[in-house]
Amino acid sequence: MNTASRADVTAVILVAAGSGQRLGYGMPKAKVPLGGDSILTHALRGVAAAGIARQICVAIPPGDPELRAQCEAFEAELQAEHRRTAGSGEGVQLPAVTVVDGGSSRAESVRAALSALLPGMQAVLVHDAARALAPEAVFHRVAAALAAGAVAVIPVMPVVDTIKTVDPSLGADADIAPEVVTGTAPREMLRAVQTPQGFDLATLRRAHEAAAEYDNAREAAVTDDAMLVEQLGVPVYAVRGASQSLKITTPLDLILAEGLLEGPLGARWVEG
Ligand code: CTP
Ligand code: MG
Repeated sequence: MNTASRADVTAVILVAAGSGQRLGYGMPKAKVPLGGDSILTHALRGVAAAGIARQICVAIPPGDPELRAQCEAFEAELQAEHRRTAGSGEGVQLPAVTVVDGGSSRAESVRAALSALLPGMQAVLVHDAARALAPEAVFHRVAAALAAGAVAVIPVMPVVDTIKTVDPSLGADADIAPEVVTGTAPREMLRAVQTPQGFDLATLRRAHEAAAEYDNAREAAVTDDAMLVEQLGVPVYAVRGASQSLKITTPLDLILAEGLLEGPLGARWVEG
């Protein structure tokens, strides 16, 4: 089955319910301005532009009227664009936009969205709104791997730093330094993981049902959806991610994202 024919049975979950503590803007990260729009609006535009989904289900901070309104405005923008291009054959897939209240952890936000997907969905891409500039090409690579039969697929990047391991419980000699190194991970085997992560929907639901029973400590250790699927013993495939998919986490990341949108690099930026 090709990517286009799968769009009718594919949903994208956009998790945007985090509080943005590390960005330190004093507001939920999804609301933070980026190049004249909010981080959430950029993320929504990126998902819709990829044209791979029948539904976009957004998890927002519970009861946040401003972010709900942004989602509604975005859906109206999509519909207006669709009407404008109707008949020209150029219109991209017009997805339904659904808004749900997120939970107190990312995994809970994903579960809230999973329970609001339209009937008939068979595949899902879970995407961080914080990766607001993820390029279309990455959505297409993930959707293509799903269409080719992957049950789980993630976008990854090679690791540029040398990664050492430490064991915080061992303790170092406090007079010398706070930590001692226990080893060096082989860099050619390491990958930095991004979103959107793609899954067979039934499999992701099963993985999240198992994780719903986790205690707080174990829940906090769940940093992506693929981890949960790995625990079911399902093979997780990896496709190439993109530098533009950086997760806006700290103020420095926001400066980078602004630079990607507006800075001198823009016109020379060729990575797909
Ligand atoms: N997220 C969510 N629900 C939560 C926590 C996180 O939907 N309870 C989402 C965020 O909105 C973000 C993605 O998960 O799009 C990745 O989370 P992260 O980058 O950690 O965002 P925040 O949790 O908002 O940031 P911080 O950890 O600095 O507070
Ligand atoms: Mg967080």
